[in-house]
Amino acid sequence: MSEPEFAPLRTERLTLRPLRAEDAPALHRLINDWEVVRWLSRVPFPYSRELADEWIASTHKRLAEGSAWHLAIVGQDGDTEVLVGCVGLTREPDTRRAELGYWVGRRFWGHGVAAEAAGRLARWGLANLDLDSIFAHALEENGRSGAVLRRIGLRETGKGEVPFLARGARLPVTLFEGGREDLTAPVPLPEPFVAEPPPPDAKPMLLVAACALVDPDGRVLLARRPEGKPMAGLWEFPGGKLDPGETPEQALIRELKEELDIDVSAACLAPFTFASHDAGRFHLLMPLYLCRRWEGTVTAREGQALAWVKPQKLSDYAMPPADRPLVALLRDFL
Ligand SMILES: CC(C)(COP(=O)(O)OP(=O)(O)OC[C@H]1O[C@@H](n2cnc3c(N)ncnc32)[C@H](O)[C@@H]1OP(=O)(O)O)[C@@H](O)C(=O)NCCC(=O)NCCS
Repeated sequence: MSEPEFAPLRTERLTLRPLRAEDAPALHRLINDWEVVRWLSRVPFPYSRELADEWIASTHKRLAEGSAWHLAIVGQDGDTEVLVGCVGLTREPDTRRAELGYWVGRRFWGHGVAAEAAGRLARWGLANLDLDSIFAHALEENGRSGAVLRRIGLRETGKGEVPFLARGARLPVTLFEGGREDLTAPVPLPEPFVAEPPPPDAKPMLLVAACALVDPDGRVLLARRPEGKPMAGLWEFPGGKLDPGETPEQALIRELKEELDIDVSAACLAPFTFASHDAGRFHLLMPLYLCRRWEGTVTAREGQALAWVKPQKLSDYAMPPADRPLVALLRDFL
């Protein structure tokens, strides 16, 4: 079977890419080690060389069908790629959760590889697959793995028992889970919107302008928040924060050019409604405009996913809490 298409994920030191048939000998050498397998629930011991081939083929099938993303963790030794371990995300059927798993070859332990790789894959998953949370389990006595899961932002949610194939027994595990608010960077505090210092107990006000672009078929454009931003993976109306001295219209004209490469004139931005939302550390005020006319072709200039969505289908898309109340109004109006 040919290697499935998947753009490798990079971190500072590592690349996460689909396993290749030629990885099998190195994979077999690293995983056929009791010190690795004893901590893994679904891996047999001894681990045969043929099993490495079968496993690699199965990861390709699952990657192609979009049910699991098991990737090689690869480091660099000069010009040579070195297989260091594996990391995987497996979608739980019929939910918006996926399970995270990983192992690192023993000679690469102690350098933070697991947290770097697992953190990257988990954040990528939340930003790019329709997921709300990532979960994992670690044997109660696996202090190292517990530390990895905490380091990447997962929280301990309870205890359980899971069969461990190589040990032929059900063993006690600690359960972990985390959502995008746990795994992505905290929202930076906005610059105060008014020049006067606010009263000590007041929240800063953040003014963000957003726009529902409506195409000739009556579909509305949604953009997906990319990995690395707070609430990555959620769908929102394009727009952004006002720069100092900007009006909402000026901010939208600038943002729509930067994000989507289209030219919009202020006359084509019709005020529609607004969101007023307590976002925790600040209060978000978001005027929403409607726009049916623009120049140029809508293009994702910042690598964000875009979707033209029929008004009746808008509620199928997971959105930040501030955007959600706008959907019913748009659906009724359009
Ligand atoms: C668990 C495993 C993936 C960790 O990989 P790693 O890249 O070597 O991780 P590191 O040792 O660099 O870091 C792990 C963390 O554990 C901590 N740690 C190290 N030894 C520890 C111990 N004996 N008890 C508790 N914590 C320990 C480290 O300080 C580090 O925490 P920090 O980031 O908060 O400082 C690796 O040991 C492994 O592959 N084990 C076998 C397979 C496995 O357990 N997979 C996970 C199944 S749930």
